[in-house]
Amino acid sequence: MNSDTIQETESLQRICAPLLAWYESDCRELEWRRNPLPYYVWISEIMLQQTRVEAVKPYFARFVQELPDVHALAKCDDDRLMKLWEGLGYYSRARNLKKAAQLIRKEHGGKLPADAGALKKLPGIGSYTAGAIASIAFGLPESAVDGNVLRVISRICASKACIDDPKVKAALEDGIRGFLRRETDTVPPGKFNQALMELGALVCLPNGAPACGKCPVRDLCEARKENLTGVIPVRRRKKERRVEHRTVLVIHDSSRLLIRRRPRKGLLAGLWELPNYDGILSQSEALREAEALGVSPLRIRPLPDAKHIFTHVEWEMTGYLILAEEMDGAECPAVETSRIEAEYSIPGAFSGYAAYKNTF
Ligand code: ADE
Repeated sequence: MNSDTIQETESLQRICAPLLAWYESDCRELEWRRNPLPYYVWISEIMLQQTRVEAVKPYFARFVQELPDVHALAKCDDDRLMKLWEGLGYYSRARNLKKAAQLIRKEHGGKLPADAGALKKLPGIGSYTAGAIASIAFGLPESAVDGNVLRVISRICASKACIDDPKVKAALEDGIRGFLRRETDTVPPGKFNQALMELGALVCLPNGAPACGKCPVRDLCEARKENLTGVIPVRRRKKERRVEHRTVLVIHDSSRLLIRRRPRKGLLAGLWELPNYDGILSQSEALREAEALGVSPLRIRPLPDAKHIFTHVEWEMTGYLILAEEMDGAECPAVETSRIEAEYSIPGAFSGYAAYKNTF
């Protein structure tokens, strides 16, 4: 145990009571907290990995209504699953959920295992999610350290260790797990972990903007005392995103839109898309591409530019609306626009252009 870990342990002890009291009175009421079934905690934690609580709420409600348990998820049709996930992004999360559900049926009798090590072996479940499920759903003394928790504890201890360093995260996981195991009779692990996350999400905000006035542990926070909340947590500089230019074609007849399936591997793998091409195409190039898809264009009109940001790449897009005479021979499906909304999941990257389907 190094001196940072000792300092953290003492801090955890000191903040524990005011933090739990604040959580009891101020935490957000959420369906997966009201009813922390292992399945609910799992689904919510996966959704929350890249998405804010407010945005997750309606997705969570719809998901568990349609797929109420592990068995329903394991059997869910892939396109239906993508449709339920549409708009949340990072679609591999949904694919991993289904794979994990199938394994849970095969290897754990359809019940999530009450064991962080076994949870971590399931697709899409890393140390954070395993600890969150183990502590929140099963009350086990496991840590659940995400970016919020790293920020909160770094500030409380005025630690200048870089929170992107996996060793720093691993040390904090060990520190919190050790603390919860020692205090097992007095500190509820799920509440303690969620209180740290909640403080990070609501009060101890990133980018030098914490709401210290509202913080239940402000008098115990070393970064606040030393006026360091603007520089802690220390982060590694982010890599710049690659910019790609693309041209999107909205090809339609009087009632149908041409869509195609993306390749099974890579960005947005296997999802539906509007035909799109590398680079900024001229009108005549766009018409040639439409013809190559097997349609006969009648009219073309440029559409406004749009942008979509993924984790490692940014698409700067231009688009064309193309009215086609004949789409039956096209090499990809022409789908009635009224069916697209309900049956096909077209990722958010195309939503600015896909919206034109309501104007035909
Ligand atoms: N972020 C991810 N999981 C959370 C939880 N259970 N409570 C608060 N914020 C979270």
